[in-house]
Amino acid sequence: MKITKSFFGKINEESEVELFTLLNDNQVSVKITNYGGIVTSIVTPDKNGELDNIACGFDKLETYLSADYLGGYPYFGVICGRCCNRIANGKFTVEGKKYSLATNDGPNHLHGGIVGFDRRLWKADAIKGRDTVGVKMSYFSPDMEEGYPGNATITCTYTLTNNNELILEYTAVTDQTTVVNLTNHTYFNLTGGKKQILDHELELNAKSYTEGVNLIPTGKILPVEGTPLNFLHKKKLKKDIADLETGYDDNFVLDNPEGKLVHAGQLSEGTTGRTVDVYTTQPGIQLYTGYWIPELTIDGEKKFGRYSGVALETQHYPDSINKPEFPSVTLAPKQKFYEKTIYTFGTK
Ligand code: BGC
Repeated sequence: MKITKSFFGKINEESEVELFTLLNDNQVSVKITNYGGIVTSIVTPDKNGELDNIACGFDKLETYLSADYLGGYPYFGVICGRCCNRIANGKFTVEGKKYSLATNDGPNHLHGGIVGFDRRLWKADAIKGRDTVGVKMSYFSPDMEEGYPGNATITCTYTLTNNNELILEYTAVTDQTTVVNLTNHTYFNLTGGKKQILDHELELNAKSYTEGVNLIPTGKILPVEGTPLNFLHKKKLKKDIADLETGYDDNFVLDNPEGKLVHAGQLSEGTTGRTVDVYTTQPGIQLYTGYWIPELTIDGEKKFGRYSGVALETQHYPDSINKPEFPSVTLAPKQKFYEKTIYTFGTK
């Protein structure tokens, strides 16, 4: 197991950005930068031992900062927060006090606002365990940043094991009651970006989903049975996708009321044999099939575009702060926020 640190670029005169490369004994490697806590690359072997990057990302910081990319910003690989996904109209009330957040998705607040955790520079410390390598990212989010109450300290630790697991652990503490919902926004393409994700197969251990109107939950939890959202048995992403105007962008309800670590599902791809199993302590998972991923020209080559990656975002449900019937996303002083997600990479 090995961890190396390199210079990734500068976001301004003072701030140098780092890139960490975690490598295990099975040739699995994961690159993570402290800019946005972005997972820029995940290299895994396919069934024949061929190595390829299965995460949408770039090898240069400047591409993450480019106008082209940010114009149709798909949040490749980032940590989303302070509250991931949407808050309707950017408004909520906590302890009788009304708050108005930055809105950056039509009338709504998305993934933490205009400058969310995805565009912050995190403090990063390399960690070397006996059979693991990792990076601990920390970020101090001041009171009223993007409109959220409370000084909050957030950590996200990424650990790679020799069992080909990438473990993500989040913690948060605050000095005033606030909203915290954290996810990682990695998009997978198990062909290494050679084909669209439509032939990928997905199985999700979710019997229900949160009904949405314009991507905001109505509050109703409905069964997936008899709908295109039924992934209880493995099926290709393309099977029912034509029934949906812009592909999948839905929050599934995992049977996980107590926040145990549960198996959320498995993504797989036949030609390469690659699999990704997802385990989480969170109650929900957003399936987003990347309808709006922009096509980019990188070093003269056209890359990405619609359906070039699929995100499996473990999270609390969207707009939970306005839905008392959903699992809570408030964090009070003295409470400790902890969530864990594991992506396990395999072949079959
Ligand atoms: C959201 C999508 C959004 C995408 C990129 C996903 O988490 O559910 O609606 O387009 O992130 O921002």
